[in-house]
Amino acid sequence: MCQLKTIKVQSREEGSRLAAKLFADLAEQNPDKPVGLATGSTMAGVYSALADMGFRPTCPHAFALDEYAGLPQTHENSYFRELSEKFAHATGWTGALHVPGVGYEDVEAGAEAFEETITALGPVSVQLLGLGSNGHIAFNEPGSAFDSVTRVVELHPQTRADNARFFASADQVPTNAVTQGLATINRASALLLLVFGEGKRPALLQALSDPGPMTPLAALLDHPNLTLITDLDI
Ligand code: GLP
Repeated sequence: MCQLKTIKVQSREEGSRLAAKLFADLAEQNPDKPVGLATGSTMAGVYSALADMGFRPTCPHAFALDEYAGLPQTHENSYFRELSEKFAHATGWTGALHVPGVGYEDVEAGAEAFEETITALGPVSVQLLGLGSNGHIAFNEPGSAFDSVTRVVELHPQTRADNARFFASADQVPTNAVTQGLATINRASALLLLVFGEGKRPALLQALSDPGPMTPLAALLDHPNLTLITDLDI
């Protein structure tokens, strides 16, 4: 049964501040559990809000949702680097950041190792989530199995086109990524989904009104603690 709780906000800024507060509260209530981080423009506002409110995470571990395959950790578009700067550095956090595939030459082996680690150290207390314009969750593209775990995936052309804005040219966007699976994400104790802007409306509406194999969010709708924060009237 869908247990989604929706919080409508007036703006992206208000939504980011609210998400930061909820994230900090859940992390503080579970100080020994890892937190779950996400990347992308939606999350940048949340990490700024966390830093602005003086939040100092004490969790020993944090798990990222996904990472491009083939980018070095130091690449300006690597999610490892983005989270190191926008979350760890900005909040003064010094715990261990686990990013799928990072640290492994063999990305398949890296994906497997990540799944083992998140299973051993989890459940994640609170997982931040965004939504791709084509409905992807992390890099679980439409059609991803609902019981999927961390693995190497091919990026959808729409995802590569959307993310080209972060790269010097469209052909520099990696073709593959390593992502937590939908089942991996579903094991977090709480899920905070942030959806801002008209560009996300079609994907959100499709997932809520006609959930199915082509709407990855459908895999999470029965989660007992899923909160959607959005500036859209839905
Ligand atoms: C990216 C990430 C996702 C993110 C989504 C939305 O490609 N892999 O985890 O939620 O796309 O990104 P944005 O917030 O920039 O729209």
